[in-house]
Amino acid sequence: MKPEIKVKPGSEGSKAKYWMEEHDKYITKTTHMPEILPLVIERAEDVWIYDVDGNKYLDFTSGIAVCSLGYPTHPEIKKAIIEQLEKLAHAASNDFYHPYQVEFAKKIISVVPGNMPRKVFFSNSGTEANEAAIKLVRYATGRKFLLAFYGAFHGRTMGSLALTASKAIHHKGTFPWMPGVIHVPYPNPYRNPWHIDGYENPGELINRVLEFIEDYVFDKLILPDEVAAFVIEPIQGEGGYVVPPLGFFQELKKLLDKYGILIIDDEIQMGLGRTGKMFSIEHFNVVPEVLTMAKYIGGGAIPVGVTVFRADLEFKEYGVHSNTFGANALGCVAGIKAIEIIKGLLPHVVKLEKVFRDELLPLRDKVEKVGDVRGLGLAWGVEFVVDKKSKKPDVGTRDKVIRRAFEKGLVLLPCGKSAIRLIPPLIISEEAAKVGLSIFKEAVLESTT
Ligand SMILES: Cc1ncc(COP(=O)(O)O)c(C=O)c1O
Repeated sequence: MKPEIKVKPGSEGSKAKYWMEEHDKYITKTTHMPEILPLVIERAEDVWIYDVDGNKYLDFTSGIAVCSLGYPTHPEIKKAIIEQLEKLAHAASNDFYHPYQVEFAKKIISVVPGNMPRKVFFSNSGTEANEAAIKLVRYATGRKFLLAFYGAFHGRTMGSLALTASKAIHHKGTFPWMPGVIHVPYPNPYRNPWHIDGYENPGELINRVLEFIEDYVFDKLILPDEVAAFVIEPIQGEGGYVVPPLGFFQELKKLLDKYGILIIDDEIQMGLGRTGKMFSIEHFNVVPEVLTMAKYIGGGAIPVGVTVFRADLEFKEYGVHSNTFGANALGCVAGIKAIEIIKGLLPHVVKLEKVFRDELLPLRDKVEKVGDVRGLGLAWGVEFVVDKKSKKPDVGTRDKVIRRAFEKGLVLLPCGKSAIRLIPPLIISEEAAKVGLSIFKEAVLESTT
């Protein structure tokens, strides 16, 4: 079971080239990377993607953390969706009641950390799940300000965009966004404003970030009793797949509790098994008041967003927040099944974590241009630099690795400034994972020597 490249991907005269040109005529620019990833997908099955020219690729992207259970979706989810389609799909679920959303909400609440009473709001995407969270915490606390981290990605609509701070291009030409967001440095062990080696000195890094919040935000900018919530990705995704020191969030929670500031935990990319636990915040033993999900929670087939929160925070009257498509019945049955299947997959993810660790970590010692390798579960980031001493990001090498891997039949996506994320579907077999890792390593070595 190996990738099979029959036609040079995206080559002159290929079908891929035709569809890319047609795409550009009719569809606006978003985040495609035609130079390094000219992939035109015809179909996908399990962990394999087939392009319009008949090439077969191994997927290490999970459709950006959506197809965690493989393509086009897990057989049990497919069955549940088809059965549901015979009964009910769209139901204006915020105006009429139906049992499927109640069952889905109960299932979500049963796996979210903490034993407090919880309630759920359903939407259709990550950014909407975060927008609902923003409205909820402002409404519930009467406070207006929000804290977020540099390097964070929380979405691209005007509220979530204000929280996002992973790439300046995301903001280009679109100001003003929602006011009231203050950013603070994230405890990135490899790259932080204080040049602390956070792997060697995690405690020092944690203290610097907490001091920054106290001394530069709460003392000089905004009193803490005006801050509604801190929006976090426990492990940053788009910002580079960065794992902070494991003691950090407990310390942060203590500080926030002192001032009655809530945590909105964005698990949209790192939740539901991706890091080997149901939610990435569980690595830190912290219970957030609000937690958001999207991507994988529709079983890779239906767009679903979820905002789950401490029940007492809820909107107290009808009409404050709602939408048209939230709690689509197909999404509800897909989500229930996805949670059940992922519960059973967690030991497999933990087992494969070791394979990834053993294969990837040596690259950091062996290759001058590999600055950092970090990850948990099946969420790994490899960061490329000009050299280890300067740590200057090497975007060119990163792009070369993605392109070369693609030509060998492995699909990868970038993250951060000069990193690559390796995030195969959670159902990947050990054998296929090793095939992908070996192609990745070949691509790295060929692009850096
Ligand atoms: C952590 C995180 N939050 C929010 C979003 C936004 O989700 P969506 O693209 O579904 O709006 C993303 C998307 O990548 C994400 O990774």
